[in-house]
Amino acid sequence: MWRLSVSIFLFSCLFVSSSSLGDSEATCSGIVPLRYRYDKISITDFGGVGDGRTVNTKAFRAAIYRIQHLKRRGGTLLYIPPGVYLTESFNLTSHMTLYLAKGAVIRAVQDTWNWPLIDPLPSYGRGRELPGGRYMSFIHGDGLRDVVITGQNGTIDGQGEVWWNMWRSRTLKYTRPNLIEFKDSKEIIISNVIFQNSPFWNIHPVYCSNVVIHHVTILAPQDSPNTDGIDPDSSYNVCIEDSYISTGDDLVAIKSGWDQYGIAYGRPSSNITIRRITGSSPFAGIAIGSETSGGIKNIIAEHITLSNMGVGVNIKTNIGRGGYIKNIKISDVYVDTAKYGIKIAGDTGDHPDENYNPNALPVVKGIHIKNVWGVNVRNAGSIQGLKGSPFTGICLSEINLHGSLNSYKTWKCSDVSGTSLKVSPWPCSELRTTGGSNLCSSTF
Ligand SMILES: *[C@@H]1O[C@H](CO)[C@@H](O)[C@H](O)[C@H]1NC(C)=O
Ligand SMILES: *[C@@H]1O[C@H](CO)[C@@H](O)[C@H](O)[C@H]1NC(C)=O
Ligand SMILES: *[C@@H]1O[C@H](CO)[C@@H](O)[C@H](O)[C@H]1NC(C)=O
Repeated sequence: MWRLSVSIFLFSCLFVSSSSLGDSEATCSGIVPLRYRYDKISITDFGGVGDGRTVNTKAFRAAIYRIQHLKRRGGTLLYIPPGVYLTESFNLTSHMTLYLAKGAVIRAVQDTWNWPLIDPLPSYGRGRELPGGRYMSFIHGDGLRDVVITGQNGTIDGQGEVWWNMWRSRTLKYTRPNLIEFKDSKEIIISNVIFQNSPFWNIHPVYCSNVVIHHVTILAPQDSPNTDGIDPDSSYNVCIEDSYISTGDDLVAIKSGWDQYGIAYGRPSSNITIRRITGSSPFAGIAIGSETSGGIKNIIAEHITLSNMGVGVNIKTNIGRGGYIKNIKISDVYVDTAKYGIKIAGDTGDHPDENYNPNALPVVKGIHIKNVWGVNVRNAGSIQGLKGSPFTGICLSEINLHGSLNSYKTWKCSDVSGTSLKVSPWPCSELRTTGGSNLCSSTF
């Protein structure tokens, strides 16, 4: 299979120019080596029944216990055959591959009453939604290394509806579970899996490094609350490529902790590449924030195709966050139908409690957005910095945002400085400094 795709790749090289090849085939997915697992087991060996009714928690826990304790050289692959495997939440272990066959579904039970609770993240100080602990992710990994979740596009189904309804009726006791979280983990690959109906965020790598997420599909209804697609959080060396995401909240949102807790924990997100993502959402396509207290730097997002969006590109932070957002490069974005093309805001999101420091102002500098094409965009852009900490080095180049008739508005800016080149509609005066072309081109 691998050989085959390599030869197809070489074959296609003969027909495309090297520059377009560089654009379309660049990849960071090699940062985690793909290991072959000689040892293979199936969930059915542990009593797993894929009839959609049997609860398979014991089978999953027993299979993973076996992987953890037998420690087979090169790790173990856990095979999930076609069928619907209902289960409660479970923990993964190191050196394993969770492999979902075509037609395999791992489906969460809807028993919110007995769902396990875990400690809040230190960089948030409490659950993201409610004070106190938080419900464990459906599939959870803590302190792991060398874990792969892959297969032939089987499905991990959170059956989130009951959780969304609790959120809507304000009957949640704690913060809803993510579909998948990896915490303090490294060398993680997630590929060729469909994620659907997460109770809360879909994929949440936090305090992780060397994470590759590619060829995934993430689906949740447009009105499902907080079903973010992928949220790299206080993590570095993360590669997200070639995926389709359509959910009720941000498609990809980079975060790094919340106000005084995030500042004290001090763990940035850095060296993150997001490439060839397609999707749709009432919120943002590519988002940074709003929890940015550990700092966010060295981010590249390119070849992003969006439709029916709230905001195409959204960088968001707040007073009390501290930290920084710097060296962000976003290019080659196509947006069809959005409320806002580009939005950079210093007043977004809430606070964990009243003890945030109002003098902890975030620093936002070196944001370069290039080559954005939008059609049917209601508001071109809004860049609203903070009075005590203006956004600097905001560079826009080759941006064309076309509005629908009558509703079209132009750029709105305050407390911001930077440059622009070939931006239409004509950008706000704050971004019309001369020498723009030099400043922009030096970093792209
Ligand atoms: C940053 O990530 C890229 C892959 O996207 C990797 O090749 C590079 O080594 C990483 N840089 C550092 C400093 O780790
Ligand atoms: C799963 O991991 C969590 C967090 O590390 C831990 O609190 C919990 O006890 C684990 N559950 C099981 C069944 O091992
Ligand atoms: C799985 O879906 C992804 C994303 O749509 C696609 O790129 C990939 O080719 C599919 N893989 C298989 C094995 O069908």
